[in-house]
Amino acid sequence: MKILAIETSCDETSAAVVSKNSEQNHVKVLSNVISSSLMLHSKTGGIIPDVAAREQLKYIIPVIQKAIENSKLKIKNLDAIAITQGPGLIGSLLVGVEVAKTLSYIWKKPIIPVNHLFGHIYANFVDPKNKIEFPALALLVSGGHTDLVLVKSHNNFKWLGGTRDDAAGEAFDKIGRLLNLPYPAGPTIENLAKKGDEKAFNFPRPMIGSKDFDFSFSGLKAAVWRETKKIGLFDDKTISDICVCVQKSIIEVLVRKTIKAAKETKAKSILLGGGVAANQKLRDELKLKIENLNPEINFFFPEKILCTDNAAMIGAYAVFHPGKKLWSKIYANPELYFQ
Ligand code: KG4
Ligand code: ZN
Repeated sequence: MKILAIETSCDETSAAVVSKNSEQNHVKVLSNVISSSLMLHSKTGGIIPDVAAREQLKYIIPVIQKAIENSKLKIKNLDAIAITQGPGLIGSLLVGVEVAKTLSYIWKKPIIPVNHLFGHIYANFVDPKNKIEFPALALLVSGGHTDLVLVKSHNNFKWLGGTRDDAAGEAFDKIGRLLNLPYPAGPTIENLAKKGDEKAFNFPRPMIGSKDFDFSFSGLKAAVWRETKKIGLFDDKTISDICVCVQKSIIEVLVRKTIKAAKETKAKSILLGGGVAANQKLRDELKLKIENLNPEINFFFPEKILCTDNAAMIGAYAVFHPGKKLWSKIYANPELYFQ
């Protein structure tokens, strides 16, 4: 099966061509083109939905054209078009969805609608070395979401818990803003943290001991805000100290809850996904704690380019769930969740 996948849920415009045959348990990425309007948003300190949608409009056709060209396939060889249906920004989603519907109508190819959140989980199915066994526990950590999901099989998912307020990536970004760091702040905080003293501040670990699998990161943001008010003008050393302590708090909570869920669900694999999964410290800490829990549990995370938003992960989900639909049945749904 060969699919053209399109992702436009936020500020990345991406198209990919992926393939999978019935014997394979992984997805082959033939091309994955990503154009990001992040530089524009870094100037405004966050995403302005209107600006993101206009940028999607500018790049969608060239990006699709390039993805098909790079794949060396002809349009006639494609079996379907996969599209991110939601969640995301309505303006951005509409660009991808309406372009996919138009191409579907003209090319006479069915559409496979994909939930962006499942896409992040399926980024782990791209690497042929990943032998993912079920049940698999997925920790999805992105700018908009922080969720623990049990993947019992390709067609049986159970949502275990998620954030009650800010997502992990959102916490990095909002705290970065307090420190005058460019948007998105996650990668900058990770870098600055390398020079910081992790004992300098003792920020809260919200909900770390709660019995459920929920998260909350807004209290951490408030604690950092209070600290910055107390300090007033701060130097580079203090910023690095705050960065390492914030990163430590977020990672400790994510790791503790994931290990608790792995124990309770008897997961055979653990999958990491979403933009925050690009954080090396999170990968290292989780790997260590999983090995301590049970060395038989396999731990997987996508390569960094597949952690942040991209169309290859949308294609990856689609080839495992090829529920083809007519273009007229497809609509954007910004509120889509795990369902
Ligand atoms: O998955 P993604 O590209 O977009 C959403 O679906 O939300 O994730 C973007 C988020 C941003 O909040 C960004 O700060 C965070 O991922 N992020 C990181 C790192 N790289 C990206 N957070 C921590 N460390 C990183 N290295
Ligand atoms: Zn995402």
